[in-house]
Amino acid sequence: MALNQSNKIKQLVAEQKQGFSLAQTFYKDIDIYATEISNIFLKHWLFAGHVSQIPIAGDYFTFEFDTESVIVLRTTAGEIKAHINVCRHRGSKICLEQSGTQKSLTCPYHAWNYNLDGELISARNMPNDFELSDNGLHKVNVELLGGLIFVCLSENPPSVASLRQDLNSTFELFGMHSMKLAEKKSYRIPANWKLAVENYQECYHCAPSHQEFAQVHAMAKPPKMFQKAKENFSQANQGNPKFTEFNRYFDLAEEGQEGYQYDRNPLLRNALSGSLGGKTVAPLLGTLQGYDGGASELMIGPLSYFLIYDDHMIGYRFLPISADECICDVFWFVNESAVQGKDYQLEQLTWLWDVTTQADKTIIRNNQKGVDSRFYQSGRLSEMERFQQSFLNWYLQALVK
Ligand code: FES
Ligand SMILES: [Fe+2]
Repeated sequence: MALNQSNKIKQLVAEQKQGFSLAQTFYKDIDIYATEISNIFLKHWLFAGHVSQIPIAGDYFTFEFDTESVIVLRTTAGEIKAHINVCRHRGSKICLEQSGTQKSLTCPYHAWNYNLDGELISARNMPNDFELSDNGLHKVNVELLGGLIFVCLSENPPSVASLRQDLNSTFELFGMHSMKLAEKKSYRIPANWKLAVENYQECYHCAPSHQEFAQVHAMAKPPKMFQKAKENFSQANQGNPKFTEFNRYFDLAEEGQEGYQYDRNPLLRNALSGSLGGKTVAPLLGTLQGYDGGASELMIGPLSYFLIYDDHMIGYRFLPISADECICDVFWFVNESAVQGKDYQLEQLTWLWDVTTQADKTIIRNNQKGVDSRFYQSGRLSEMERFQQSFLNWYLQALVK
């Protein structure tokens, strides 16, 4: 990046007031957007999908943001690998579908053919000095965390050693490696990606905007009431591994380690799950023996979030398409042995987070419309927006790193 652009960003970061929403430029400037892609999206671990989506050799799905596309697949040897979805000949995209099964990867343009490990195995009519072995697909780093597939497009990704050490028992407890994806929905939002992320980091808006969510989640209550309910809930469950908290997110992450966060929060009244009336919607996850009336919040890396009820797990992630458009993907996971139509009904399972995400999409779009106005100015954040503030602090530092 040109020096004057980098200085401009440094200046903007220095001028941003603590405890206030971001200045308008952060949501619109294309140099800032480019810096976000290189300093955040290309440097961190991003949630791509789950092993249950590609059970058989040759199964693949694509994972896309901004101008990038990654092929995530299962190799002949049964490993999960990821390759950049760009042909080494003249750069065509290779896998054009969002998912499928292939014995090998054939570029649709001039039919160069790659094996599932990404090695080029044939290229027609090339000069004698052409080496197949120099033209494999670019590799993408992969980590499997409790069956969740994370990718990092940097050659030097942050370590997940600390995260694994702390969270392995959580992954086990909820049987995350043996879940299956029951449903995935994508919500395209005409707004800068940060407005979507920020919206998911505060529950200040939950009571006024999410009547359905607020009926089952104590988190939607005012902070003092929520804290009291959380304390009582944790005390009543002392010693239960489900209640061991980890706060290594954003600035609290150790140097060189990917950030993460885990805690368990109470649901309201007699709710057992995140559903209409708090009713159970699927068989228990993992080795759980019963319902405790809570839900766990799990964050892996700065941009991937999971909400674990005792009978299902929601995954959500936010990916930029451009400076003024983003995508929110929501994943619903159940125990792998659960049978749709018998053990769970898709409509009941997905109802709460579909209705909530639809409402969020409207909120975020309206937020962007106001932020676009000449009259927008940074506004003071509430006590219920502390987590959002931690994200903003981390974000501003990431821009100038
Ligand atoms: S661009 Fe892929 S074979 Fe030519
Ligand atoms: Fe919301």
